[in-house]
Amino acid sequence: MADPVPGSVLARMGASGVCGSDRHVLDGDWKLPLPTVRGHEGAGTVEAIGDGVTDVAVGDHVILSWFYPCRRCTACLSGKSYVCTGSRSEECLLPDGSSPLTLDGERVFPYLTVGSMSEYAVVPEAGAIRIPEEVPFDVASLIGCSVATGGVGLSIIMALRLVGANPIIAVDLSEEKLATARKFGATHTLVPSDGLAEEIAAITGEGAAYAFEAIGRVQTIESLPSLIAAGGKAVIVGLPPEDSPVSIDALALAESGKSLIGSNYGSTVPGRDFPRLAALYLAGRLPVDALISHRIGLDDVNEAFDAMRRGERARSVIVF
Ligand SMILES: NC(=O)c1ccc[n+]([C@@H]2O[C@H](COP(=O)([O-])OP(=O)(O)OC[C@H]3O[C@@H](n4cnc5c(N)ncnc54)[C@H](O)[C@@H]3O)[C@@H](O)[C@H]2O)c1
Ligand SMILES: [Zn+2]
Ligand SMILES: [Zn+2]
Repeated sequence: MADPVPGSVLARMGASGVCGSDRHVLDGDWKLPLPTVRGHEGAGTVEAIGDGVTDVAVGDHVILSWFYPCRRCTACLSGKSYVCTGSRSEECLLPDGSSPLTLDGERVFPYLTVGSMSEYAVVPEAGAIRIPEEVPFDVASLIGCSVATGGVGLSIIMALRLVGANPIIAVDLSEEKLATARKFGATHTLVPSDGLAEEIAAITGEGAAYAFEAIGRVQTIESLPSLIAAGGKAVIVGLPPEDSPVSIDALALAESGKSLIGSNYGSTVPGRDFPRLAALYLAGRLPVDALISHRIGLDDVNEAFDAMRRGERARSVIVF
């Protein structure tokens, strides 16, 4: 691990969540620079700062963001840093084009310029967001991905309850997950079947106003428009493997005025929204700690991925 280059900071990890996106990388679903240190949902303490860093100081508690804004492109300048075109986070590189990691002299890439499944990480200053010290690291780590993105269906349910949505219908294959969904505010739970659209219409009257796909399955994404009412919005949050085209009845979509939209990082502006989500947690309005089903050591991470493949567990969090 190299010392932080100008504009970057060294963080000692407090906790790292185990996210479905790490599993995609492990299973080869997406092409990424390799070899990689995975983990992109981390929080920790700033141990050292590179030249020119002013946003954070040594000792600050920070949430690491897997999309660091360049702060110069049109998206960033219009407040949409979640679709920044100048960031090098997808190349897993610091803004100066370097990687802080090597193994036996060869370059190693921290996944999304985070690499939080490691005791230490060097990240860009713009990707280290200061939060109050009262927020525990395990909770803070989840704010860095699953809570901000709604990347876990349970986070979507938490957000829906927070904004007063009713009814809130959760759909999952696993009865265990559905029981958890009820605790987070789902008013109805359903196991998917051929009659899903009719079941949802029976609960909502004319179909849902919004539907969110949080699995990353082509067939489920294709079914979304049938679940929403005319004029409704269907949101793709789950990420399928690369090269997964979906087929949509374009005529029906247009005639019913439905929208099918993508969501990246929950349209989060990390510097604005991470402290806001942390404050909602501290105020008792966002029960992020309840998402954590397992606190594990770094050595237990493969077991956590296996459990995920079996559709088990809410969130596993590595605690350092
Ligand atoms: N858009 C973004 O910014 C963003 C961010 C983070 C994660 N993600 C993506 O979100 C997806 C989910 O991530 P996760 O960490 O919650 O994974 P997870 O494995 O913990 O959760 C997936 C859930 O889907 C359920 N499921 C599986 N097959 C199903 C089916 N056929 N019908 C109904 N339910 C089914 C499982 O039981 C499980 O509860 C992944 O594809 C991940 O890459 C997207
Ligand atoms: Zn994630
Ligand atoms: Zn940008």
